[in-house]
Order: sequence, then structure tokens, then C-alpha cells
Amino acid sequence: MNSLSLIATTLCCIVVFGGLPFSSNAQLDPFFYIKTCPQLHSIVYKILFDISRTDTRMPASIIRLHFHDCFVQGCDASVLLNKTSTVVSEQDAFPNINSLRGINVINDLKTAVEKACPNKVSCADILTLAAGISSVLTGGPGWWVPLGRRDSLTANQTAANINLPGPNFNLTQLKKAFADQGLNTVDLVALSGAHTFGRARCLFIVDRLYNFSNTGKPDPTLDTTYLKELQTQCPRNGDGNNRVNFDPTTPDKLDKNFYNNLQVKKGLLQSDQELFSTPGADTISTVNSFAANQNVFFQNFVNSMIKMGNIGVLTGNKGEIRKQCNFVNKKSSELDLAIELLEGEDMVSSI
Ligand code: HEM
Ligand SMILES: *[C@@H]1O[C@H](CO)[C@@H](O)[C@H](O)[C@H]1NC(C)=O
Ligand SMILES: *[C@@H]1O[C@H](CO)[C@@H](O)[C@H](O)[C@H]1NC(C)=O
Ligand SMILES: *[C@@H]1O[C@H](CO)[C@@H](O)[C@H](O)[C@H]1NC(C)=O
Ligand SMILES: *[C@@H]1O[C@H](CO)[C@@H](O)[C@H](O)[C@H]1NC(C)=O
Repeated sequence: MNSLSLIATTLCCIVVFGGLPFSSNAQLDPFFYIKTCPQLHSIVYKILFDISRTDTRMPASIIRLHFHDCFVQGCDASVLLNKTSTVVSEQDAFPNINSLRGINVINDLKTAVEKACPNKVSCADILTLAAGISSVLTGGPGWWVPLGRRDSLTANQTAANINLPGPNFNLTQLKKAFADQGLNTVDLVALSGAHTFGRARCLFIVDRLYNFSNTGKPDPTLDTTYLKELQTQCPRNGDGNNRVNFDPTTPDKLDKNFYNNLQVKKGLLQSDQELFSTPGADTISTVNSFAANQNVFFQNFVNSMIKMGNIGVLTGNKGEIRKQCNFVNKKSSELDLAIELLEGEDMVSSI
């Protein structure tokens, strides 16, 4: 496939799922970089396409990285900040440690984007755009990703520990974690659909397999055949860092299988199965409607991804455009400030 037909594929998806809101946040705009970095989409697409050929899991990892960014002080690339003398990194929070993937992919994208359009495009936007393109690359929907975010000057490890939902959460806790971010129950069900690809480590499911809620028995909401498969992959007292596929049938595709799996008691995490197996839950009918029709799932997924991408964004002159995604820019000395002012004048005169 040449890059033109790839772009054609992207456009086709956008047309199919068109008519969606360009942005529910007036400050963000899919064409934010149309003048300052027109090559942005093609640069990000090309690099991610190449990586996804050899690392089929990476698109899933990027979508999760974006989620873990947005739920902690908004989509501001705070998750990308490495530990330094002044930054307590979110990467070392419990939901992220030994678990996040894709940080260096975002660094590679940033390097390529900086080469083409220096000092224009934020890391937060590169991560959000990369998440959108990761959907297209794995058979999911495409959409015009609203852009114009800026990068944070801080990270918050405490918030990462508090805000990110855990795999043993019940439905009440899941709904609260999403409501705290301004996301509703349909968003919860639609975004959980991202657990249709990627992997989870055994340590997050062993209690379900052997000793659910200290009952000494497996989780009764787990299909018995699937239980045996998982027990083989995650033996009792085995390596908790072994990984299993979220979706046993199409492990690297963004499709509606997650919901069909829930219907037959094959949700991997307890928090996944809760959406379907909590008695009387209002999430059951949503799961059923997504399981029945992939287009309905895709439309809701797009809508909720855009909503999630709008959480707590920094715009205007808040935050900064980082030069390197893992570090806050050095404070401008007077000389740097003078250079920035000169560059600013350049820009004005070139308009
Ligand atoms: C609803 C609450 C959620 C919980 C409790 C949860 C929990 C988890 C856990 C425990 C893992 C495995 C991590 C590991 O093994 O190191 C995981 C992986 C993953 N999560 Fe979630 N998650 C949730 C929501 C989401 C959302 C909203 C998204 C994105 C829209 C998402 C996308 C993913 C993806 C794609 C993976 C696989 C990543 C990879 O293979 O690198 N999750 N999640
Ligand atoms: C930042 O930390 C991540 C691991 O958390 C690492 O992969 C990356 O290379 C680091 N970045 C730099 C510039 O050292
Ligand atoms: C970090 O997040 C916690 C929990 O949300 C919050 O209480 C705290 O004020 C935040 N810290 C900073 C410096 O923003
Ligand atoms: C969900 O978990 C919370 C915290 O453990 C608990 O207080 C609550 O009763 C649980 N809700 C249900 C419906 O089980
Ligand atoms: C299940 O876990 C509880 C609490 O950790 C423990 O006391 C109990 O012995 C375990 N049961 C089995 C069968 O492993």
C-alpha cells in the first residue's frame, strides 16, 4: 500500500463516520495547525503505520497512554514528563509503573514533527492525534481529531493514583471515576471498548482465576472454558508479569468483540465484566447495542474519544509547547527571551 492509498483509506473512514461534531470544545480545532504544520497528519500517520507493522500491539498502547494522560489533570502530556529533581513522574504511579508503553514512540513522532515545524506542535496534541490514527490503523473508525492543546508545566503522581480506575472496581466505582472527569455511563461503556485489543498482565486477573474476593474460588461471572484457558496462561503463583490478550479472537483489532465477549462471560478484567454482569445495571443494554452493531459502537467510540480528548485542555497561552516531551522547557534566560521575541516578530511579518 502506498501512502496515498493510506490517506485515501483514512479519508474514506472519515467520510463514513462523518457528520460527527468537529469538536465539542470551542477552543480546539481539527485544522489548528493547517498553516503552522500542514504536514503534521502525514508525518504521524507514516511513522505509526511503519511501527504498527512490526509492533502490532503499539496502537493499543498509544490509545491507553492517551487515556492515562487525559484522566490526570487533563490531556496535557503530563504523563510524558519523566522523573527529575522537580517532577514526581506520573509514570511511577501504580497504574502506570512497568505498564505504560509508547512514550518513546511519541518522542520519535515529536522529533520528526519538530524537524518539519519547529516549536509549533504540542506533545499533548501529538499524543491525541496518535491515538486517533492508532484507531484507523487497527480497523477502527477515523475522525477529525480536534487540536490546539498545550503542554503542562507539571505532573501529578497522586492524581494518577487516585483518578485512574482499577481492574477490581465495581460498576459504582467505575461510574464515579468517569463522572469525576465529566464522562457519563455511555462514555464508560464506549471507551471500555478499547479493551478489545492490547494485553493485560496476569497480576491483574489472578484473583479472579483462583481466589475471587477471598472466596477461595474463581469469579463466577467467568466462562468456565475461558477460565481454564486463562489459568493455563496465568498459573497460580506464576509470573504476574506474563501477558494475556484482552480479546482472544482478534487480539490486535479495534472491533466490537469486547462487547460480544462480555455477553458470553469472557471479559478479561473484573471491571470489564461488571458492565454486563452487574444485576439490573443500566450498562447492559448499551453493551448489547454495541455488541449487535459495530457502526453503533464506532460512532459512540468516536464521540467519547473526542470528549475524553477535551478534558482539562490547556489552550491559548497557558502551559507551553515542549521542546522534548519528557521534560518541561528550561526557563528562558534573557537571551532566550530576546530570541523568542525576534521569532515572534518573524511570524508576524510573514503573515
Ligand atoms: C474503565 C476502566 C478501566 C480500567 C479498570 C482499566 C484497566 C486496565 C488494566 C489493568 C490494563 C492492563 C495493564 C497492564 O497489564 O499493565 C489495561 C490495559 C489497556 N487499557 Fe484499560 N482500563 C480502563 C479503561 C480504559 C480506557 C478508557 C481505555 C482507552 C480508551 C483503555 C485502554 C486500554 C488498552 C488499549 C490496554 C492495553 C494496552 C497495551 O497492550 O499496551 N482502558 N487497562
Ligand atoms: C523517559 O522515561 C521513559 C521511561 O519511563 C524512557 O523510556 C524515556 O527514554 C525517557 N526519556 C528520556 C529522554 O530519557
Ligand atoms: C494533585 O492531585 C491531587 C488529587 O487530585 C490534588 O489533591 C492535588 O491538589 C494535586 N496537586 C497539585 C500540585 O495540583
Ligand atoms: C463497590 O465498591 C465500594 C468500595 O469497595 C463499596 O462501598 C460498594 O458497596 C460497592 N458497590 C456495589 C454495588 O457492590
Ligand atoms: C484466599 O485469599 C485469602 C486472603 O488473602 C486467604 O486468607 C485464603 O487463604 C485464600 N484462599 C485460597 C484457597 O487461596
